[in-house]
Amino acid sequence: MTASTDLPPLDGPPPVDASLQGLDLLTVADFTERQLHNVLTLARWLKAVRRAGRPHRFMAERSLAMIFEKASLRTRCTFEVGMTQLGGHAIDLASEHERLGVRETVPDIARNLERWVDVIMARVHSHATVTTLAEYASIPVINGLSDLTHPCQAVGDLMTIYEHRGHLRGLQLAFVGDGFNVAHSLLLAAGTLGLQLFVATPAGYEPQPEVVARARALGTKTGAEITLGHDPREAVTQADVIYTDAWVSMGQEEEVARRLQVFPPFQVNTELLALAAPDALVMHCLPAHRGEEVTDEVLDGPQSVVFDQAENRLHAQKAILVSLVGVAAEATA
Ligand code: CP
Ligand code: NVA
Repeated sequence: MTASTDLPPLDGPPPVDASLQGLDLLTVADFTERQLHNVLTLARWLKAVRRAGRPHRFMAERSLAMIFEKASLRTRCTFEVGMTQLGGHAIDLASEHERLGVRETVPDIARNLERWVDVIMARVHSHATVTTLAEYASIPVINGLSDLTHPCQAVGDLMTIYEHRGHLRGLQLAFVGDGFNVAHSLLLAAGTLGLQLFVATPAGYEPQPEVVARARALGTKTGAEITLGHDPREAVTQADVIYTDAWVSMGQEEEVARRLQVFPPFQVNTELLALAAPDALVMHCLPAHRGEEVTDEVLDGPQSVVFDQAENRLHAQKAILVSLVGVAAEATA
């Protein structure tokens, strides 16, 4: 990890941005440039605190309700472990809610949960479900992946790039593959922070125009350079980061045959990687479909940081939780 000399003292108070308290995190663009930078600093501070073995029970007596309409390894595990490390408690409601709104309405679920817990994290099929939860719950709601975005992933990814490069600005990022939720989050992160991002997808699998427009609108203030195209080679040439995601996302299973015909030219393999900067980072949100969007050789190779990304989901989400919910009185007493 990059030296943490730029971090506030580990024995001092957590560097929490008070302007984030009470906000929802439905897309990365819910945070301003400054707020996102502050969450990243807190995430690196919390990681250093954890590594130093220092107690950080900033969510003592606080509870998180977790809803999963879709499968998860990383999100499920890192939110629960994160709450444990922060001295709080996480409740997995997956068994009750395979698809929200069947047993009772989404607004009613929100109005129940807000009476008991301090924050909700939901992984949903439709982004509208997480916005409805946020509309009806007075407590913060965190999007743990929807069909629109995956903001927690983007925060962990930015942290990972920062650790490996020591900065974010000026780096050339390439996303190769499906212009879906993970690509959308990277676009919004690039717009918010003023990054250079080239997204290369097959024709017909481009990111949603509204998301691209939002990223570019954010970028007019921050200086982001957002480029779309259909040539993976053009996207990765001299890139500092190559990012890919599954060709078939959860919920798209009926499209498998078609997608497996269309996407092979977008595989991240040694030939494609050779076009990037010699020390380019290879990134993937995971789970990987080895031999499809990425080869074993590249995923397990020296330039891959995919398990750093997975680890950093833990620290990034701890920072998001503490920022949105606030530091428990017990922790500051
Ligand atoms: N990257 C990610 O969100 O992983 P899970 O689907 O396992 O949670
Ligand atoms: N695009 C993938 C991301 C999984 C973390 C999906 O939605 O299934």
